[in-house]
Amino acid sequence: MAGVRFLSTGAGLPDRVLTNADLAKMVDTTDEWITDRTGIKERRIAGDDEATSDLSARAARQALERAGVAPTDVDLVVVATCTPDHLFPSTACLVQKALGLTKAMAFDVSAACSGFVYGLAVVKGMLETGQARTALLIGADTLSRFTDWTDRGTCVLFGDGAGALLMQATDGPGDLLSVFTGSEGAAGDVLCIPGGGSRHPAGAGAVPKHPAHIKMDGREVFKHAVARMIEAATAALAKAGKTPADLRLLIPHQANLRIIDAIAKRIAIPNDRVFRNVQKYGNMSAATTVIALDEAVQAGQVRRGDLVELIAFGAGLTWGAAVLRW
Ligand code: ACO
Repeated sequence: MAGVRFLSTGAGLPDRVLTNADLAKMVDTTDEWITDRTGIKERRIAGDDEATSDLSARAARQALERAGVAPTDVDLVVVATCTPDHLFPSTACLVQKALGLTKAMAFDVSAACSGFVYGLAVVKGMLETGQARTALLIGADTLSRFTDWTDRGTCVLFGDGAGALLMQATDGPGDLLSVFTGSEGAAGDVLCIPGGGSRHPAGAGAVPKHPAHIKMDGREVFKHAVARMIEAATAALAKAGKTPADLRLLIPHQANLRIIDAIAKRIAIPNDRVFRNVQKYGNMSAATTVIALDEAVQAGQVRRGDLVELIAFGAGLTWGAAVLRW
């Protein structure tokens, strides 16, 4: 069986910045409240003409250019997203078209904020079993389009973005050492977008009873997120035969600084080995861990041979972690 090796990363972030001061003009909130409860200072918001596939294509193009890989060499493109441009075609097909990935199979993975780690599990299986050789995995979301901008409890939390990871099959065990994933649909009501799907279709009634907006029980999500991300981090490390001391960098899902701090404390890893950029971008859902990896690699915080662990948690509920050697 083949293994996976990592070639390059890329990021696609919108230019528009929304600060806490901007939000304080829109809803009853303050910079102090948002900073204290979440650590977030600002987030990026997609332009009026930008959707998830545009940010995805930007991230993927950067990854291809950095690795010097031609679009026609890619035979698999997967987009992890819960905010696709359309119900169909898939966002991956739109990226396939935008970048001229003419030899690639293309599909989306839906696991909300855990989508990128779920995508790693899928792509790992396909590369290891010879179903593909060169794969682009993109984590991308545009949650600003599904945010109730009058609900101060949720609108301060999210931002838009995309990140891409270019991978290739290689002889031997490879560098994706383990992936662990889990789910609990029975607790899924704590975080959902009720409208816009086949249960309550978009456009059904002038004022839809079930709007396509994020609904969340923040306290419940917080508790589940901390517990499940610690469980996932521990399980993926054990599967890889590693301990927290082996990690150069822990990259938790960037949703809230207090969640990240709680995980770092329980895993007992020094603060300078835990990545944080939630203050700049808010929660970009499936894009958070891959954009974090991209920033860490570009800044020299992660070098070739370093061990990194990604951890994620999201709607579903879903969670997961992956241990990789960069
Ligand atoms: N500004 C000012 N006050 C606010 C705001 C705001 N933006 N939002 C809520 N409040 C108020 C509430 O109305 C409430 O007021 P009350 O006491 O008068 O009723 C008070 O602040 C406390 O509200 P709580 O919801 O209890 O505040 P909490 O300390 O739990 O913080 C938060 C809320 C930040 C949402 C927290 O629960 C959290 O981070 N949860 C996890 C959310 C998350 O990360 N979701 C996504 C993860 S999964 C994924 O990535 C898809």
